[in-house]
Amino acid sequence: MEIKSGFTFWNLVFLLMVSCVKGFIYTCGGTLKGLNGTIESPGFPYGYPNGANCTWVIIAEERNRIQIVFQSFALEEEYDYLSLYDGHPHPANFRTRLTGFHLPPPVTSTKSVFSLRLTSDFAVSAHGFKVYYEELQSSSCGNPGIPPKGILYGTRFDVGDKIRYSCVTGYILDGHPQLTCIANSVNTASWDFPVPICRAEDACGGTMRGSSGIISSPNFPNEYHNNADCTWTIVAEPGDTISLIFTDFQMEEKYDYLEVEGSEPPTIWLSGMNIPPPVISNKNWLRLHFVTDSNHRYRGFSAHYQGTFI
Ligand SMILES: *[C@@H]1O[C@H](CO)[C@@H](O)[C@H](O)[C@H]1NC(C)=O
Ligand SMILES: *[C@@H]1O[C@H](CO)[C@@H](O)[C@H](O)[C@H]1NC(C)=O
Repeated sequence: MEIKSGFTFWNLVFLLMVSCVKGFIYTCGGTLKGLNGTIESPGFPYGYPNGANCTWVIIAEERNRIQIVFQSFALEEEYDYLSLYDGHPHPANFRTRLTGFHLPPPVTSTKSVFSLRLTSDFAVSAHGFKVYYEELQSSSCGNPGIPPKGILYGTRFDVGDKIRYSCVTGYILDGHPQLTCIANSVNTASWDFPVPICRAEDACGGTMRGSSGIISSPNFPNEYHNNADCTWTIVAEPGDTISLIFTDFQMEEKYDYLEVEGSEPPTIWLSGMNIPPPVISNKNWLRLHFVTDSNHRYRGFSAHYQGTFI
């Protein structure tokens, strides 16, 4: 008898806990169709609710792709996220998780479905996000966006169109200044080079061209400095790929890291004391971003890159 009532009591407590937690989950979102539109987080711009789990699925006509362009973005850094899925919101389609207070660049789906999921924790909110979405015909590359401190010249983004970038005074353009929208084999259009970045004149990094070369952290093989923030862009001719082979690698685990963009998965974070496996680009570019914190210094990295014609 006693055992039974104890069991019922804890069962009740458990049920109450579950329903309380469930009660705090705020669901929203929906399925969107149509050539274009906007999505706002609930309550925008006055703050989204805590415990949010909102999923938006955008469905375009069969042969079209979807481009999203952020107009506003502010989520409590590291606690609230906007996850992007290239397709329906399944783990296999997961692309990236956005958080913080910087406006993310535009994103284009590879097929006709694109999903966004907002998840927030149980405290602190921020003004949220607003995003414009648009169906892209197979002959359009879509607006590739403007990097911070950059200027974009050109307003047409269809096959054959060319656009050009420059940077405001005090910043150097890294990458290719001119982009051309080209039709590719799978009946879609894409830009021939990645959007360049604008690097402060005194910041480390640079643009690497040519069929091969070496990239090393500042001062290599001596210790790198604290608070480093370097970006290198390796560009090859359209149709080529790039392989990056590490020959040396020593970084303070987790606090100092090298982020490599442009391969599969789209972003790779490398850190620690082991030489990472080679990285092969998806397209004709790779971008390396080396960041260190304010203490502990090691040798850093050295890598050899090589273009491969496919
Ligand atoms: C959708 O596109 C049309 C035509 O370009 C434009 O007039 C309209 O404002 C757009 N809708 C939104 C929600 O921006
Ligand atoms: C949000 O909801 C989806 C679908 O309803 C679910 O699969 C997912 O696990 C939820 N995520 C969180 C963080 O609760």
